[in-house]
Order: sequence, then structure tokens, then C-alpha cells
Amino acid sequence: MSQQHASAELTLGTTGVARRGVDAAESRVANRVWWDADADDYHAEHGDFLGAADFVWCPEGVREEDARLLGDVTGLRVLEIGCGSAPCARWLRREGAEPVGLDISAGMLRHARAAGAATGIDVPLVQASADQLPFAAGSFDAACSAFGAVPFVADVAEVFREVRRVLRPDAPWVFAVNHPMRWIFPDDPGPAGLTVTHSYFDRTPYVEVDGTGRATYVEHHRTLGDYVRALVGAGFLVEDVVEPEWPAGHERNWGQWSPLRGKLFPGTAIFRTRTP
Ligand SMILES: C[S@@+](CC[C@H](N)C(=O)[O-])C[C@H]1O[C@@H](n2cnc3c(N)ncnc32)[C@H](O)[C@@H]1O
Repeated sequence: MSQQHASAELTLGTTGVARRGVDAAESRVANRVWWDADADDYHAEHGDFLGAADFVWCPEGVREEDARLLGDVTGLRVLEIGCGSAPCARWLRREGAEPVGLDISAGMLRHARAAGAATGIDVPLVQASADQLPFAAGSFDAACSAFGAVPFVADVAEVFREVRRVLRPDAPWVFAVNHPMRWIFPDDPGPAGLTVTHSYFDRTPYVEVDGTGRATYVEHHRTLGDYVRALVGAGFLVEDVVEPEWPAGHERNWGQWSPLRGKLFPGTAIFRTRTP
């Protein structure tokens, strides 16, 4: 049991890790209960780094204010997928966009409602899964996700098809995920996280389970090629894959992200894509 997530693991009765197949339904349930159980600890630990109305893409600290990966969002209807407490959506609102925050977890959305009330920045929130978007075709001008949903769904191609369906033509879809090469190392910010222990080519999901074998947390791995194929297959144009370098002077760890590892290899991949 990791110290970082001890409370969620206790609540869910997590007893160990399995590597096994997990379908779409089991992935959805596991991640909904996981993020519900971890929502308070997640925000106690990362809330100040994320900010109340700030768009931070990744533990390396890339901000949309500087990177402008979505371009000018003024007046655009933007869907944020896996919004958590929705600091990115509130930043987009301040920039003059009309964001909608979507997340599978009521616990995370509870934090979003509280932060909306505290900041006075009102953003519509929807509880749903990224692979089952409850919106009409062509209802958004842009979509984004900062580590929300994409690593956690069983069928990433289905998410991309759904995002493609709800976007209008010439619309950006930009999302950040764990860099696929992180899969080969243990989730350890220290020296133990520098030794390869797992095959990059093994897509068998990482699954935490309770005493009955029920999944309590699920993460899915795709290689860089898998991502590009799924994006192109869904009809997106891939414009860039940003691999942020660890900034000098940035000393803060975030789980397995640390200055030690960040100086040697990427921890985040941000895919910048667009509908034709
Ligand atoms: C690492 S958190 C990131 C949250 C937020 N983007 C941030 O930067 O703090 C991952 C989020 O994805 C959400 N999530 C997981 N699986 C999802 C799914 N299938 N559909 C929608 N959201 C999902 C979780 O509930 C959680 O809020």
C-alpha cells in the first residue's frame, strides 16, 4: 500500500496489484470509485500547484497561458475531459471561452463546485465517461484534457471517436498523458525509478484489486504509435507531440514525477491535434 494513497486504498480495500485485462465497464467503475475515494487527498496534495483558475498541463508546470496549445479560445465552446476540480475550465472561462467540465467522479466534481463557488467563476459541469459523451455531434469548438480520462479508459480509440464526433471542423483536441516510456519503470520518483522493469510493448493494464479481485484502480498503457494510430483512425490531424523538459529550479515532486527523473527522460506527452 503506498503512503500517498493510503486513505483511498483503505476505503476501497485495496490489497495488491494485478496485471490483467480490464474491459470498458470495469475500467469505468474502478476509476469512478477510485477518484471518488481519492478526491480529498488529491486536492490536499496538489490543489495549490493546480491553482483555483489556472491551466497547468502537467507536473513539469507547463501553463496554457504560456504554451497556448489551444490557440485563441475567446468565444469558443470548449469541452474539458476529466476536469477534476476544473481549474483549467475556470481559466478558460476567464479567457473568454465557454467551457464545459466533464468528469466521471462525483467526488472530483464536488471539488469543482466548491471551487466554482469560492472563485465566483461558474462553469457547467457534467458527470459522464469520456468514452460515452452525452453531447450532440458538432457541439464544441475545442476539447482538452490534462491527465483526465485518457490513461484510464479501456478503449482509447472510442474516446477519440467520441471527441471527434462532438467537435466541429478545424477544432483543436489537445490532451496530456503520462509519457508512454514511463510505463517501463516503477512508479518511483527516486533512483529505483531509473531501472527498467517492464516491457514498453506489454499493453496489459495495471490494476489494483481488493481482496475479492475486484479492480479498485485501473491504468491503461499505449505506445506512442498506438496513440497516433488511434488519433488518425478517428479522423484527427496530429500537429505536434510536446515532450516538456523538466524546468531548471523546479524542485517539486508529483508522485513519480521528480527532478531526478525529469532531467533524464520525459514524464508527459501532450498531443496537439485538430479536426480537418
Ligand atoms: C489525474 S486527475 C486530473 C484532473 C484534472 N485534469 C487535474 O489536472 O487536476 C484524472 C481525472 O480523470 C477523471 N476520469 C477518470 N476516468 C474518467 C473517465 N472514463 N471519464 C471521465 N473522467 C475520468 C478522474 O475522475 C479525475 O478527475
